[in-house]
Amino acid sequence: MGQKFYITTPIYYVNARPHIGHAYTTIACDTIARHQRMLGVDTFFLTGTDEHGQKIERAAQEAGKTPQQYADEISSEFRNLWQRMGISNDDFIRTTEERHKKRVQELFRRLRDNGYIYKGKYTGQYCVSDELYVDGAKPGDPCPLCGRPTETVEEENYFFKLSAFQDKLLEIYANPDFVRPETRRNEVISFVRSGLRDLSISRSTFTWGIPVPDDPKHVIYVWLDALANYITAIGYGSTHAGAQAAFHKYWPADVHMIGKEIVRFHCVYWPAFLLAAGLPLPKAIVAHGWLLFEENKMSKSRGNIVRAETILDTLGSDALRYFLLREVVFGQDGSFSFDALVQRYNADLANGLGNLASRTLTMIGRYFHGEIPTASPSAAGNAIAETALRTIAEFNVLFDQFQFSRALEVAWALVGAVDKYIVENEPWSLGEKQDEASRARLANVLYTSAEAVRIVAALAHPVMPEATAKIWTQLGLGDIRKFQLSTLQWGQLPGGTRLGKIEPVFPRADKSTIERMQQMEDEGRAPSTTPVAEPQSAAPPVPSPAQQAPAAATDGKIAIDDFAKVDLRVGQIKVAEKVKGADKLLRLEVDIGSEVRQLVAGIAEAYAPETLLGRKVVIVANLAPRKLRGLESNGMIVAASLEGGKPVLAGFLEDVPVGARLK
Ligand code: MSP
Repeated sequence: MGQKFYITTPIYYVNARPHIGHAYTTIACDTIARHQRMLGVDTFFLTGTDEHGQKIERAAQEAGKTPQQYADEISSEFRNLWQRMGISNDDFIRTTEERHKKRVQELFRRLRDNGYIYKGKYTGQYCVSDELYVDGAKPGDPCPLCGRPTETVEEENYFFKLSAFQDKLLEIYANPDFVRPETRRNEVISFVRSGLRDLSISRSTFTWGIPVPDDPKHVIYVWLDALANYITAIGYGSTHAGAQAAFHKYWPADVHMIGKEIVRFHCVYWPAFLLAAGLPLPKAIVAHGWLLFEENKMSKSRGNIVRAETILDTLGSDALRYFLLREVVFGQDGSFSFDALVQRYNADLANGLGNLASRTLTMIGRYFHGEIPTASPSAAGNAIAETALRTIAEFNVLFDQFQFSRALEVAWALVGAVDKYIVENEPWSLGEKQDEASRARLANVLYTSAEAVRIVAALAHPVMPEATAKIWTQLGLGDIRKFQLSTLQWGQLPGGTRLGKIEPVFPRADKSTIERMQQMEDEGRAPSTTPVAEPQSAAPPVPSPAQQAPAAATDGKIAIDDFAKVDLRVGQIKVAEKVKGADKLLRLEVDIGSEVRQLVAGIAEAYAPETLLGRKVVIVANLAPRKLRGLESNGMIVAASLEGGKPVLAGFLEDVPVGARLK
C-alpha cells in the first residue's frame, strides 16, 4: 500500500516508577498502533525513557546512586511493565544510549551551522521539576506549570533563536489538525502570540547530560535532548544507510501523543527546532488529559499513584485498557477508582461482551454440534446486520478522531442490541422444536449473534488484544492478527466453521477484587528493595528510638558514616491540612529546596494546620516512602516525642535557608 504510520509516546522521566498515568498514554498509543497495523499500514510505534537533566541527577543523589545506575533501574521497570502488558512498541529509546547521544550532538551542530545558536548569559528562574525556564519570573516565583518554587539560574549558556519562529509557528497552527484538541491549540496560539524569547539550550552548572559538541563544559538542555528522541530513534543523524532509510521512511511522525502538561515543549519548542534544522514537522500533536486519583493528578510527588501491576494481577491488562479508553473522555481529565473499574468491567465485559459470546457459542455447541449454522448472510431485512454495518462505519470515524470512549460506546450498543434480540427470539425455546421453520429461525438467530460478536471482537481488538483473540479462536476463526480490518463486513463468518474450545473470557469480579486491589496498592507502595510494612492505623510518624537507630552499631553507638546516611534537611511547610478520618494525621507539602514533598505526619493533635504554614522544620528526606490512610508520605518530620504528651516540632532560632542540610 506504501502507507506508513509513525506514533510516539512521550519518553518517561526515570525519577518515578511507572504508574497507570504513564500506562494511559502508552495504552492509547498501543491501541492506535494496533489499529493501524490491522488496517494493513506499515506502523512504527516508539516509546522510551528520558534520563538526563538536573531532576534525574538530584533524584539519583537522593537515592544514593549514580545517575546511570538509577536510570538503568527505573528505565528497566518501564520496559518490563510494557512487556508484561503486551505493549507492541517497535523500539524503546533511552536517552543515555550512545546512538541517541551522538545523533543529538549532530542535531545541535546542524542548528548551530544553520545560524540559530549563539552564546549568551542567562539569569532567570528555572523549574527543575518541569525542567522549564520560566521567562519573566522573579526569584521565589512559582513555576507556571507545577506551582513549585523556581530556582535562580545564572550561567553562561548557548541560546536558540526561538524568537525568530514566532510568525512561522502561528502560520503552522492555522492547520487545525496540528495541535489537538482545540483547547490546547488555543492555549498554544495565545502563548506564542504573547511573544517568544530566545531559549537557553545548554546548562553548565551540572554534568548529567549530553555534552555540547566542541564545548563539553556545557550539557545540552534536557528538553532539546529529549524531544530529539523522536528522530534519533528512527535514524536521524546516523551514517548507516539502513538507519537513514528508516528515517526517510517514517519521518515525519503522524502522531506525537502527550499529556496536556507538556504541550508547550511539543507544540512550540519542538517545531521550532525542526524548522531550524530544516526538517519536516510532525503531522499532529495530540494532548490527552490527566488521570486523577482521589481528585488530584496521579503523580509520584502527590503520592496518589496506582500501579498497573495491581490491575494486571487481578483483572488483567485488557480490563485496564478497556476501562481507561472507555471511561475517560479522551482529551479531558478522568477519574480512576477501583470501584469504577470493577463496575465497568462487570457491566461491559463480564456481563456484556463476555456473556454474549459465551451464551451464543454455548447454544451453537448444543443445537448445532459446535458448528456455525448456515444462515442467510444478507444484511437486508436483518435489523442487527444493519446496526452492525452502521456501527462499523461510526466506530472507524470516531476512532480516527481519537474518540475512543464514544467509539466503544457505539460498539457496545451493538452488544446491547444483540442481547435484546436474543431475549426477543428465545433461541432456547426454538432449540426445543424440531420443525424446519424453527430450525431455520434458530440458525438465523444464532448466526446473527455470532456474527455480531465477531464484528465487535474485530473492532475492539486494538483495545483488548488478548480477550478478542480468544473470542476469535472460540469462533473457530484462527489468528485474529491476520484479519484485515478494512475488509470488515456483515456476513463474513462462514457457515460450517467449527468452534474452538469455549471458555469464559471475562470472569465476573466481586467486592473482594476491589479489596484485594486496595490491599495490593497499600502493600506495594514501598520500593521492592526496602519493604516497609505500614499499619493502616494512624500511628504518628514522629521518630521513635527504634526508627532512629541505624544498623551496624556497637554498644548502642553508631559511626559518623551511619549518621551521614540520614539526609536531614530544612524544609518549609507550604500546605497543611487534616487527613479525612484520621484524628492524628496532617497532610503536609514541604518545600525542601530541590522539590516540594508530600508528608503525612502524626501531629494533628498538637498543631492546627493553619499555624504551620510557612514554618521551617527538619525533615528526614531520604526515608523510603510509606503510605498512611492511602496517602504517600515521602520523608518524616522531626519532632520531640514526649512520653504521654504531644509531639513538639524541631526548629531553629536563627533564620536558615530552605533545603540546607543538617549534619
Ligand atoms: N520526560 C518528559 C517528556 C519528554 S517527551 C520528549 C515527561 N515525562 S513524565 O514521565 O513526567 O510524563 C510523561 C507523560 O506521562 C505525560 O505527558 C503523560 O502522557 C503521562 N502521564 C504521567 N502522569 C499522568 C497522569 N496522571 N495522567 C495522564 N497521563 C500522565 O514529561
